[in-house]
Amino acid sequence: MAKDKKVHTTGEDSEGGITSSYETGDGVKLKVKYSFFGSIYDQEEEKAVLGAMKQDSLTMGPQVKFFQEEFAKAHNVRQAFAVSNCTTGMHLCTQLFQLKQGDEVIITPNTFIATSLVLLKEKVTPVYADIDLRTFNIDPADIARKVTKKAKAIYVVHYGGQMCDMDPIMDIAKKHKLYVLEDCAHVPAAEYKGKKAGSIGDVGVFSFHSLKNMTTCGEGGMITTNHDEWVKPIEMLRCMNLSHWDTAATDFTFGKHTLHKFVDGKYSDYWIPSHFDVEDVNGYWGNNYRMNEIQAAVGRTQIKKLDMLTAKRQANGRYINNGIKDVEGVFGTYEDPNCKHVFHLYTLCIDPKIFDRDEFMRILYREEGVQGILHYQPTYHFAGLKKLGITGDCPLAEEFFYKRGINLPMHPRLTQQELDDTVAGIRNTAKKLRGKKK
Ligand SMILES: Cc1ncc(COP(=O)(O)O)c(C=O)c1O
Repeated sequence: MAKDKKVHTTGEDSEGGITSSYETGDGVKLKVKYSFFGSIYDQEEEKAVLGAMKQDSLTMGPQVKFFQEEFAKAHNVRQAFAVSNCTTGMHLCTQLFQLKQGDEVIITPNTFIATSLVLLKEKVTPVYADIDLRTFNIDPADIARKVTKKAKAIYVVHYGGQMCDMDPIMDIAKKHKLYVLEDCAHVPAAEYKGKKAGSIGDVGVFSFHSLKNMTTCGEGGMITTNHDEWVKPIEMLRCMNLSHWDTAATDFTFGKHTLHKFVDGKYSDYWIPSHFDVEDVNGYWGNNYRMNEIQAAVGRTQIKKLDMLTAKRQANGRYINNGIKDVEGVFGTYEDPNCKHVFHLYTLCIDPKIFDRDEFMRILYREEGVQGILHYQPTYHFAGLKKLGITGDCPLAEEFFYKRGINLPMHPRLTQQELDDTVAGIRNTAKKLRGKKK
């Protein structure tokens, strides 16, 4: 590479854009930067990568198998399937549920586009239910209000590290015979009333993107389920509808060709009739949504660290909560006593009656050097959904995004200095804004 060529790993000119950096280039001196790496890597991950690279096959081999088993055990589910990412995993489940044009799915607007995108891909209509302003999770009462005869499923997102109120959601699902998908992108190891994320609905789907609490080299995902009967369809939809030949058949006829492959009750040759068959899954054609061995090997080391990673996030979140609890007009992240919160995000809430959220965020960033970001614009406000005529009636989700929420840097590598700067930044900003009002 020429000496004068810069290697871009982050920043506006990297291809990842919004998915790999919030670098602004505006000269603000940051004390606490928003990081796009949510975990901790050390020699264990390096060893895992190098070990997997030496294997004969680099995809869907022993590492994937063990990673699935270890992940299932950690989340107390019967089955787990590694996939290329959470979006592809949720798309696969949308096909598995046989959702199609004309069907409706009740869903939260307070999520990354991925959750609705998998419905749009199958021409299914998302119907948005509002959120609870304390947890920012979907409100079961509004789900109940929005169920129509066309509803086929409920897609919940456990926002920021804390699970939704699953008991009433499962009751609604049972009453109306709806599937439940848990978008678990933010919640590995989280719990609701002692039950693990991804173990309550029909399926759970996790993300191992770079930002997440555990990551498999930047991309990756996992589907969890307790439905044993879905093993074959999930495996087929994950891998191009491949299936095994019907071993009960003794002859195979293909046009003019008939193969006789049974000798003494066994196949005469391992290549007869061919290595695999291909079938639709209830009329659906899958994709290549596999995970590779290097990612899975790293995932296995991350599973071993998950308790430690979670404990660090919890300690960081609680430290900030404690440091700002007496500041009027701002609220720290709420921990529901029914839940084990795994602090994927640290969401600071501004009381709009006391402060203007944008002004608060501006001072916190420009003068205090703490970089907040906003999640999530209500999905139905995106141009593409508006073009389809999809709307939503979720005033609380709108108030949260446009007037209340700020997500502050949260990851397990935050230093004591960064935590203290975050607390001081929030306290100073509140003081400055109060001073301005007088
Ligand atoms: C709530 C939520 N769902 C789904 C996704 C998509 O995950 P992935 O990037 O693994 O496809 C994300 C990623 O940021 C997310 O935050």
